[in-house]
Amino acid sequence: MTIRVTFRPDKLQPPVIQSPLPRETAQILIPVNEPVGIGKVRKNNPSSLEKDKDKDKVAEILDELEAFIGLVTVKRLIRELQAYVEIQKRRTREKLIAEPLVLHMIFRGNPGTGKTTVARLVGRLFKEMGVLQKGHVIECERADLVGEYIGHTAQKTREQLKKALGGVLFIDEAYSLARGGEKDFGKEAIDALVKAMEDNKDNLVLILAGYRQEMEFFLQSNPGLRSRFPIHIDFPDYTLDELLAIGKSMLKSRQYELSPEGSDTLRFHLLSLINTHPYAGNARLVRNLVEKTVRKQAVRLFQKPSSSREELIQILPVDITLEDL
Ligand SMILES: Nc1ncnc2c1ncn2[C@@H]1O[C@H](COP(=O)(O)OP(=O)(O)OP(=O)(O)O)[C@@H](O)[C@H]1O
Ligand SMILES: [Mg+2]
Repeated sequence: MTIRVTFRPDKLQPPVIQSPLPRETAQILIPVNEPVGIGKVRKNNPSSLEKDKDKDKVAEILDELEAFIGLVTVKRLIRELQAYVEIQKRRTREKLIAEPLVLHMIFRGNPGTGKTTVARLVGRLFKEMGVLQKGHVIECERADLVGEYIGHTAQKTREQLKKALGGVLFIDEAYSLARGGEKDFGKEAIDALVKAMEDNKDNLVLILAGYRQEMEFFLQSNPGLRSRFPIHIDFPDYTLDELLAIGKSMLKSRQYELSPEGSDTLRFHLLSLINTHPYAGNARLVRNLVEKTVRKQAVRLFQKPSSSREELIQILPVDITLEDL
């Protein structure tokens, strides 16, 4: 921008400062909420108020993450990621070389270990950090991507990608895309996904999820994929104590409480689940157990014409059963 200063010949008036745009106008013209994503700083010139608001929301989401039971390494990694993205943004602002933000991820773990829950949180976090425009999560699996005839797969995959733009495309049991080998249409879906990752690298995060070993095998058989997914997060099975804490927190959030005997009974049932169920460290099983428990308590209380507040809250051992779980 050139600034021209003209001195008046009479020297009685102050000099006139002419510039193509007054400074304030020039700043306003910089888009404040430019809808871009990864690799760019969305808010070029956020006001300090705006920055504070975003920080509060980010802190809120991180507190939510902290409140999850267990998941120690997951929490550490997400915090690391948040710091990394923030610092790259600050470096960009200072016109320093910033690492390109490639945020595609692999989530490895058994069913019910929190993968989808964490993916949703990551989407919201990236939105508040200005990395993604919307931060929503589109969950899909092989059947949503792979078609039955030539051309069908590309079309189905494109549809899911379109829905996910600005957010996260979360593909569960992603290894099943490579199930049928070279001739299978799954390969076509993988190719379309890889292309989309390149084309939309500023506005899409792809998360491939699945069992640890299968995902490892999947990456080995598709060597080009590994380098495109720099972030790998392991979701270990929950321990008995963690499952118990998850159960208690689920009940608490619904305004129920276990009696001391109820707590012992829940622990006992969880232990027997761990010993018999193939995916024992599974929080979804606990959720189902909690939902069943709440229904059983209702049936017990319904037999009486009225119930005290205390009774409505308390869960007794008779309410907890593994039947039909
Ligand atoms: N650490 C946790 N604390 C509290 N609740 C949890 C935790 N992890 C998971 N849950 C709850 O367990 C249920 C299953 O979690 P989620 O759907 O995220 O698992 P998943 O790994 O995606 O499973 P799947 O592979 O079967 O899709 C959800 O209701 C979720 O709220
Ligand atoms: Mg899931």
